[in-house]
Amino acid sequence: EKGGHEYFMLKEIEEQPEALANTLRGHFVNGRIVLDEQRMSDQDLRDVDKVFVIACGSSYHAGLVAKYAIEHWCRLPVEVELASEFRYRDPVLDRDTLVVAISQSGETADTLEAVRHAREQKARVLAICNTNGAQIPRESDAVLYTHAGPEIGVASTKAFLAQIVANYLVGLALAQARGTKYPDEVAREFAELEAMPDAVSRVLTTVERVRALGRELADSKAVLFLGRHVGFPVALEGALKLKELAYMHAEGFAAGELKHGPIALIEEGLPVVVVMPSPKGRAVLHSKLVSNISEIQARGARTIVIAEEGDETVRPFADHLIEIPAVPTLLQPLVSTVPLQVLAAEIARSRGYDVDKPRNLAKSVTVE
Ligand code: M6R
Repeated sequence: EKGGHEYFMLKEIEEQPEALANTLRGHFVNGRIVLDEQRMSDQDLRDVDKVFVIACGSSYHAGLVAKYAIEHWCRLPVEVELASEFRYRDPVLDRDTLVVAISQSGETADTLEAVRHAREQKARVLAICNTNGAQIPRESDAVLYTHAGPEIGVASTKAFLAQIVANYLVGLALAQARGTKYPDEVAREFAELEAMPDAVSRVLTTVERVRALGRELADSKAVLFLGRHVGFPVALEGALKLKELAYMHAEGFAAGELKHGPIALIEEGLPVVVVMPSPKGRAVLHSKLVSNISEIQARGARTIVIAEEGDETVRPFADHLIEIPAVPTLLQPLVSTVPLQVLAAEIARSRGYDVDKPRNLAKSVTVE
């Protein structure tokens, strides 16, 4: 059942390496990325000149991560939208637009209606879904299934990480079709993805330390999350987890926005979680975040820093340091999200809440 865990969510957090490995399996055949169900031609895929990603909640955050990879690998414009907004707008779409619809359940009402809205305008729809035969994949032109297995906890964990991986596969499939990456580059990127289950297993060795930190933070009134680049959607996801599980005020910000308002919230003792980019990646991103942390620490914030192993520069500014393994920049969300999931779950448990069934929420939102 819960595999010896107090709550399903912790079990599902620990199943993430397996969820990633299962999602990758069978998608690189004879040197090519393959989707699960492709009811559109290879030419249609080549002709794509614009991508919209539509989803709700955590699935939307997975879409935000996808934007960085697809733009970088495919040189295609990518817009990421909440399905509930997209469906009531008049988005500019045509048959060369690829709409990627992400849904764990495959039944979310807003996402399904957004898919229909896109198809009415002749856009092609590719579904990323964790549920075989659900309505959204049935109404799509192509499907990539995440193989996270059933998710019992209302808060998405393993499905979220699997969605990110599936989005990367879509990005590589597009890059391959458009020729923006050579076959050997696609093979190399796929190999990097295949190394991620092990990297996630390494982060899982920190679970008990993160849980202890969660217990320390359980009485906080609010928690802020900061990130840049792919760390920004991770910050949003960390905040959503905390809201839905611990009923705590939590907000995620792009670190560059700090001076445009959020810094006014910083006060003595306020926990601020900062997702640091790799020091080996773009130096400017890293140094900007170091200065952001020093600014908030100087104003009394209690800094909780998620940083790459061996990143010594952040130590002086970190009241609590959570180390994650070194991975390529675009793939970092797969490791940096994990401690935030554990933190939210443990804060909720310490406050006496039902981690698997938070109040007012349903696993599948089929009414609007
Ligand atoms: O089944 P879906 O992926 O379409 O669900 C979307 C959201 O309802 C879902 O991600 C929700 O935000 C989760 N409770 C987040 O943990």
